[in-house]
Formats: sequence, C-alpha cells, structure tokens
Amino acid sequence: MSTEPLPVRVLHSIVAKPAVYNLLQRVAGVEKSRARVRRILADTSGVLLDIGAGTGLYADLLPTGAHYLWLDNDPEKLGGFRRSHPQKLALLGDASRMPIRDGGVDYAMSIAVSHHLTDAEFDSFLRTVARVCRLGFIFLDGTDQPQSRVSRLLWKYDRGSRPRKPEVLREFLERYFVIQSEELYRIYHTYLLCQAVPKPVTEVPEPRAAGR
Ligand SMILES: C[S@@+](CC[C@H](N)C(=O)[O-])C[C@H]1O[C@@H](n2cnc3c(N)ncnc32)[C@H](O)[C@@H]1O
Repeated sequence: MSTEPLPVRVLHSIVAKPAVYNLLQRVAGVEKSRARVRRILADTSGVLLDIGAGTGLYADLLPTGAHYLWLDNDPEKLGGFRRSHPQKLALLGDASRMPIRDGGVDYAMSIAVSHHLTDAEFDSFLRTVARVCRLGFIFLDGTDQPQSRVSRLLWKYDRGSRPRKPEVLREFLERYFVIQSEELYRIYHTYLLCQAVPKPVTEVPEPRAAGR
C-alpha cells in the first residue's frame, strides 16, 4: 500500500497515462534532450536496449539499420508502447534482473530512470547493464540541484524520489563503466548525459553493499 497522500497518488496515476506523460514531457522541453540523444545515437548500430523505456519517447531516434528493444517494469507503459509501436520488440521486466545474456545487446540506454532506484538497486542495475551491453551505454537523468527552486519543486512531485548530484552519479557509473563523454545542461532540472563503455570483467568490483 502506497504511503503517498491521496492527491499525490491521484496526480501520479494521471501522469502515468502514456498520452499525458508524453504531453508533459514535451511541455517540459524533452525535445532538447531528444536532440542531444539523437546526435549520440547517430553512431549506433545493431541492437539498442532502452531500459526503463516508458512510453518509448526516444524509440524513433535510432538510425536506419539499428534495432530498438524496449524494457520496462510497468505493464501500463507496455500497453501504450505496443499500441504506438506495434512492430518493435518489448520486454516487461526489472532493470536489475534483465533476462538477457552477457553481451546480448550492442548498446544500452537509460533515460530518467536512476532517480527511481535506491543506491543498492542503482548499483545492481549498472552492474547488469555493464554485463549485457557490448559496446556502449548512454545515461541521462536529472540531477539534484537543491539551489534551484524550480528543480526542487519538480522533484517533490516526481514519482522517483532519489535525484543525485552529478558527482555521485559519476561515481556510480565509474564502478562499471569508463565515461567517454559527458555533458551537463539545464532545462528546468540540470541533466547529466554520459556516453560510457563497459569495463572489462576483470576490472569490475564486487557489488556495492546494501545501504551504502
Ligand atoms: C521517468 S520514466 C522515463 C521513461 C523514459 N525513459 C523517458 O525518458 O521518457 C521512468 C521509467 O522507469 C521505469 N522503471 C522504474 N524502475 C524500474 C525498474 N526497476 N525496472 C524497469 N523499469 C523501471 C518506470 O516504469 C518508468 O517507465
């Protein structure tokens, strides 16, 4: 049973509707993020796994010849994605226990997901992403900027309640990846966008202890 107050629960269930979510994202300036992600994806080929893909807002950005694979744990989002992209492959599942073999996809991407995960879940998620993706990982999320009133207000009503500072996100990523490029940019939140490659298995540390 959710501990959120009723008005917040009602708000979240409205925003969870795929059409409402997409409209709000457009109002919130998602095209600026899409333009940046489009530039990065221009160099991809093979299979790209979009983890926590939601409504599939970034599915149309892949170059011709690359294949998009949707993954999320929300059945309502799956229904919406299937209706709007009937030809694309989709997996319903948890980001930290993905049913994909080692190196099973060429690229992975995770946009606006890490703030939904606890530290232990985020660590386990990144470990799994590094295991399944062969060539590269594209990471994007809003960051914790307590000095910005707008950002603080938006996080207050966001379903994911764990925004992290850019340096904390980097520290998590660098356990399992080598960051090749990164950009911080501002819309209402300040966003961190990174391109990274998985570290060789021999350099991967033990899983981070729960609660750290
Ligand atoms: C803010 S939405 C972002 C959706 C999409 N990436 C985008 O940028 O429009 C976060 C998504 O992460 C998904 N999600 C959260 N925790 C997850 C988990 N443990 N495994 C898989 N998906 C998860 C949610 O269902 C939701 O669709």
